Amino acid sequence: MHLAIAEAKKGSGFVQINPLVGAVLESNGKVLAKGYHSRFGGPHAEAIALKKAVKKYSKQEIARANLYVTLEPCTRRGKTLPCLPSIKQSGIKNIFIGTLDPNPGEQGRSIRALRRIGCSVKVGIEQEECDYLIRTFRKWITTKKPFLLGKVGMSLDGKVTHPDEKRYITNTLARDRVHKLRQEFDAIMLGVNTVIRDDPELTTRLPGKRVSHPMKIILDSRLRVPSKSKALDYNTIVVCLEGVTMKRKRSVANTGATILELPPEEKRGKQLFEQMNMQVLMKELGRRKISSVVLEGGSYVFTTFINRQAIDEFYIFTAPQLFGATSLPFTYALQYTVSLQNMKVELIPASKGAEVGTADDADNLLVRGYAKYN
Ligand SMILES: NC(=O)c1ccc[n+]([C@@H]2O[C@H](COP(=O)([O-])OP(=O)(O)OC[C@H]3O[C@@H](n4cnc5c(N)ncnc54)[C@H](OP(=O)(O)O)[C@@H]3O)[C@@H](O)[C@H]2O)c1
Repeated sequence: MHLAIAEAKKGSGFVQINPLVGAVLESNGKVLAKGYHSRFGGPHAEAIALKKAVKKYSKQEIARANLYVTLEPCTRRGKTLPCLPSIKQSGIKNIFIGTLDPNPGEQGRSIRALRRIGCSVKVGIEQEECDYLIRTFRKWITTKKPFLLGKVGMSLDGKVTHPDEKRYITNTLARDRVHKLRQEFDAIMLGVNTVIRDDPELTTRLPGKRVSHPMKIILDSRLRVPSKSKALDYNTIVVCLEGVTMKRKRSVANTGATILELPPEEKRGKQLFEQMNMQVLMKELGRRKISSVVLEGGSYVFTTFINRQAIDEFYIFTAPQLFGATSLPFTYALQYTVSLQNMKVELIPASKGAEVGTADDADNLLVRGYAKYN
């Protein structure tokens, strides 16, 4: 199953809104064939592994093999033929499955069908990792809203801006991890202040790899974003409140970016909150088949999304420095405390030979986990 999980990861960045899936055919400790789902609408992992095996092995050899697949095989025709019939035809008797299909219509169907024809089907092999592979798919398929990952780079005293604005907080390997997240996710979302202050490109930069660039989403109620911002192009959605002036809209639209106008939040008592309605935004992004979003800040954005219990997972990179009161904090006042579940802690090492005193000169910590609001 570990091999199947490694296979699944190869599709990262190219299968959305489908799940990442990997499969391995094994017999007496020998791998006969491997496969992974490599692009949206493309053939499924188990179908690829079986097809490869048929070219090299006899029907009898394949029938004696064990099939490992990270996600329950599908039973219905979608963009491709369903996988269940080809598994049945192969004669394979032992099937190991990482996790069930979260799609309500599919869950458990192929397992029941395989057991009915006498197959031994074991479910829940390396389940935590297999569930992690499909966490964004699970959210989208069950809620039709995107999975939100909050990514932050901060100092030990919880500050997200460096006192010297031009310097990085986290080291090169930590920043590479962020690019891997961008590769894996459909979109990046951030507040307009960060775009104004930092003028980021918001692209995926992974040297030597086939990259996919996420959609860029800028939260900007009044369209304050400067039209020369590097982030503005055909791959950008600028989200604003209804009723922004035509002049501002024209200036942003001329960059190629799409403007998405939202109604304000609900009226509470006599007060009308002139903030954009985030519920409407999440539904709209889901409708546009954006199934996963990396929320990249800054402080105000993190705060409002936590206060709406909207962040599903956190990646918190910490650099061993103290920045003090002049820097912005990770969050302002929160209505909830947040704890991390299934927490993982990783040391992200400094670069060898880095200039002393720079961000690259220090080891960083990555703490990640699912958000639980208390
Ligand atoms: N270290 C890190 O990980 C990290 C990451 C990102 C940013 N940063 C830093 O954070 C700083 C900016 O942080 P910030 O708190 O000033 O601003 P911000 O969070 O980048 O942007 C906040 C602005 O976004 C707009 N907005 C629209 N909808 C919003 C919503 N639902 N929730 C929150 N904001 C919404 C609001 O402006 P309107 O009212 O005009 O719409 C708001 O003032 C930058 O200096 C940047 O370098 C650090």
